[in-house]
Amino acid sequence: MDHISLIGFMGSGKSSVGKELAKLLPSMELIDLDSYIEAMTGRTIPEIFENEGEAAFREMEKSALQDIFMTGELTGASYILSLGGGTVTSEACRRMIRRNSTCFYLKASIDTLVRNLETWPGDRPMLKGGKSLRSRVEELMATRGSIYEKTAHHIINVDSDDYTTAAVDIVTLLD
Ligand code: S3P
Repeated sequence: MDHISLIGFMGSGKSSVGKELAKLLPSMELIDLDSYIEAMTGRTIPEIFENEGEAAFREMEKSALQDIFMTGELTGASYILSLGGGTVTSEACRRMIRRNSTCFYLKASIDTLVRNLETWPGDRPMLKGGKSLRSRVEELMATRGSIYEKTAHHIINVDSDDYTTAAVDIVTLLD
């Protein structure tokens, strides 16, 4: 088991930490699960949510993870996986992640998440709707916070937004 998974809420810095980790661990291949699904389906994440809905997207996350871990087993490749903020809401995904990788939760406070999501809003279907950004983040974190904690093997605090240090801390924990 030598894959690394990064989990955490939208805006916690999974992609940034993944890029920093890839610099420190050049023998590992960085995979962003959202980009993998977009390449697999030929559609963007917002298009998938719009046309097929969240449940269909969760199934795609599950089969993408199955593909990736199976490919790793067949080829011997090691991956740094930057997962989606909601990947771990599925029990099947949680099991695969814990069994096949060392999993790090990039933990950020609500204030940090809201600030990051205001700075880099992106196109995130889960944050759409009538509610304010802060109340939506609070609502989702109320159910997801404990899920991230129980899925991760290690928790890395990213409130400082120092993604280089976070990557170094992850490498240290692997040794
Ligand atoms: C989601 C997070 C997104 C993406 C999708 C759903 C979520 O990824 O997978 O929009 O449910 O939290 P990021 O965490 O990379 O934004």
